[in-house]
Amino acid sequence: MRDTPGSAGRRRLLQGLLGTPLLAGLWPAAGRAHPALAIPERAAQALDVFQLKAVAQAKLAPPAWHFIAAHADDGKTVAANRSVMDDWLIRVRRLVDVSHIDTSLELLGERLATPICIAPVGNQLLIHPEAELASARAASRRRNLMIVSTVSSMPVEEIAAAAKGPLWFQLYASRDTALMRFLLQRAERAGCRTVVLTVDSPTRGNREAERWFAPQIDRSRLRLGNFEGYPGGPRIGDPALDWEIVAWLRDNTRMQLVLKGIVTGEDAERCVRHGVDGLIVSNHGGRQEESGRGTLACLPEVVAAAGGLPVLIDGGFRRGTDVFKALALGARAVCLGRPCLWGLGAFGQPGVARVLSLLQAELERIMRFAGTRRLDEISPASLERA
Ligand SMILES: Cc1cc2nc3c(=O)[nH]c(=O)nc-3n(C[C@H](O)[C@H](O)[C@H](O)COP(=O)(O)O)c2cc1C
Repeated sequence: MRDTPGSAGRRRLLQGLLGTPLLAGLWPAAGRAHPALAIPERAAQALDVFQLKAVAQAKLAPPAWHFIAAHADDGKTVAANRSVMDDWLIRVRRLVDVSHIDTSLELLGERLATPICIAPVGNQLLIHPEAELASARAASRRRNLMIVSTVSSMPVEEIAAAAKGPLWFQLYASRDTALMRFLLQRAERAGCRTVVLTVDSPTRGNREAERWFAPQIDRSRLRLGNFEGYPGGPRIGDPALDWEIVAWLRDNTRMQLVLKGIVTGEDAERCVRHGVDGLIVSNHGGRQEESGRGTLACLPEVVAAAGGLPVLIDGGFRRGTDVFKALALGARAVCLGRPCLWGLGAFGQPGVARVLSLLQAELERIMRFAGTRRLDEISPASLERA
């Protein structure tokens, strides 16, 4: 089921109709309706992440929903993240023994069972009372790599205890260097071996929906767990940030360093020159700059310039076939942002777990069709330009 604007609108309308008392008795129960219209009542019923999106949208209050859905300006970049997936077609292969599929990999010293990871997303208390702990417990089942946001509601130590698996820490730069040191030490002590510096935020993106609903948020219910115990305020953001931050981080943490938000070959080359350990192709899910460039379209030039550094990617990944395409174009792993939040808003921990297991099953399915038994068998030859 593709989530085109038309189909999404139709589904919302029909779901609204199904919810009216007048029609409730005449229409089949929502959970048994046509799959494209169905509203799963339990996480395990969800057939794809779009059904979980529909449940989350129905359940969450508008400020929470728009916190997730918000995009910069007119949404051209968030839409491009999806539409560029169609620029590539998958070349399937026949008569390969695909009875055993192995999606495991080694990434910056971590042994992972799957290249499907959880992107850093802050303030999850807005979405569910268990917040990042629910996401971490869901990740623990298959030991999906999770990246904890600087502005997570829960402190990184508690998330690490719940995740029981590989955990990286995402850092927003601050002009308060003592605060950055405090956050880095906290993440190291919690067991994170890699810090992900987000470099796409010299200013805040123009997210109009988020701004519109922000005054309705009950801030007394929110929490910034990683800042607790710090004597100063939670001041993040530094418009003066430049490449000198790499050397500063090297001097101030033993963690490996990944830069998140690289979308050009030029900046990937600079990552190599400055000796970072890896990078994430990301436009923050179309929430920062309205560039109109989808991340999958940026991936080839970044991989070509990255000199063998591990390249991860996020933005618009909703299907196993999307993940497959990124792997074929040279990404080592793929992070999910909003889909995990849809799962969280819909059903809490089981919802996030369902998102992860759906994407895993879809990836394994397309690997079987493509005759690729291991990740290293997925290559540019697996694709053709549309
Ligand atoms: C609600 C929300 C909050 C986010 N918070 C952060 C954050 O704290 N740090 C960060 O580096 N990226 C953050 N991101 C960006 C994600 O890490 C990721 O880049 C993006 O969501 C991927 O696109 P997708 O949502 O289409 O999967 C956030 C994204 C969303 C949707």
